[in-house]
Amino acid sequence: MRPLERPEPGPRDPENAEADDLGSGVTSRPMRVSAPCCRCSAVCASLSSHAPRRYKKRRASTHSSTIAPPPRQLILIPTSPPPTHTTMSAKVAIVTGAAQGIGRAIAVRLAADGFDVGVNDLPSAEQVEKLEELKAEIEKLGRKAIVVTGDVSQEAAVEKIVKDTVAAFGGLDVMVANAGTCELAPVVASECTHPNLSPEPAADPHAHQPPSSSGTRRRGVNLRGVFLCFKHAGQQMLAQGKERGGRLIGGASLGGFSGVPMGGAYSASKAGMRGLTHSAARELGPNGITVNSYAPGIVVTPLTLRNFGAEFLESQKPSCALGDHGTPEDIAALVSFLASKESRFITGQTIMIDGGRLCI
Ligand SMILES: NC(=O)c1ccc[n+]([C@@H]2O[C@H](COP(=O)([O-])OP(=O)(O)OC[C@H]3O[C@@H](n4cnc5c(N)ncnc54)[C@H](O)[C@@H]3O)[C@@H](O)[C@H]2O)c1
Repeated sequence: MRPLERPEPGPRDPENAEADDLGSGVTSRPMRVSAPCCRCSAVCASLSSHAPRRYKKRRASTHSSTIAPPPRQLILIPTSPPPTHTTMSAKVAIVTGAAQGIGRAIAVRLAADGFDVGVNDLPSAEQVEKLEELKAEIEKLGRKAIVVTGDVSQEAAVEKIVKDTVAAFGGLDVMVANAGTCELAPVVASECTHPNLSPEPAADPHAHQPPSSSGTRRRGVNLRGVFLCFKHAGQQMLAQGKERGGRLIGGASLGGFSGVPMGGAYSASKAGMRGLTHSAARELGPNGITVNSYAPGIVVTPLTLRNFGAEFLESQKPSCALGDHGTPEDIAALVSFLASKESRFITGQTIMIDGGRLCI
């Protein structure tokens, strides 16, 4: 409720009946009304040139000049409550690829923001151990966590990740489809089964292997994995209803905006995510669900160290306007905002976060 000084109305005038009913007048700032006003109610009082003119006309036509200026009274005008789908009272998130790098930082940040988190990664012993450590860290922050392993390029696995998280925490508000791979190869020498391109799931879904040309490597993680995460999290959010809505957030890349030498398949998958983000946002917006992606430049993580090496990464710093690379926490801060109620009016965007590496 917002206090507003408004004059006490005179005798009810049918011509100006609305002026006597403040209704749900929404105002952006408190206003002091200097004279009895007309049908346009509180709004015209803020326009100094308009108010006196209307007042003069009204005095001439409906009130005698002997009417004394009315006493002031304090009236409370209700402001519109924000749409309920932005309140995020129940806060449950899933973060895929959370065992390390950017995904881990996002999971910790969302827990610090008050989310209970389903933390996902591949089901290898190494990644599960990291997820258990992450779970303990989240619990130290006073939130709950559940380890939900699975390969996001496999539809049954994604269904289970969503189902198990919902069963544990009673719903889902935010899906961060972060898991991704980057395997570099020349366009002219890439197989169509390149892991960043192929829609086929891996032959061995439990494999957590370094890049190789063998048939067991993970496939279609970047685009197919995000698509499946948006699909199944979106279904859950739709079932929860518009009042609760939700946030779908994808891990894209600067490589989806600009070329990466030897990264044809990677760039194609990340550019594809932008199209997915545009379309899903238009589709789900009417249901109170926003869809956005973050597109990091260079962030030093196991992925970039493995692909480029520390020396090369260091040499790239001057190409950023800020002269530095990002940290996983920088990316997590953006995701934190996209997951919050404050971002309710942003959807369909792939937001570059690159220290000014690509200023367009
Ligand atoms: N690090 C960067 O500079 C950078 C830049 C642009 C975009 N990105 C994107 O950000 C995301 C995270 O990158 P990162 O640098 O933290 O990578 P990372 O390799 O350090 O971490 C990625 C995590 O995802 C997991 N993962 C891979 N495939 C999976 C699958 N099929 N199912 C479940 N989990 C899987 C991995 O096990 C790993 O723990 C990726 O989508 C990546 O493409 C990173």
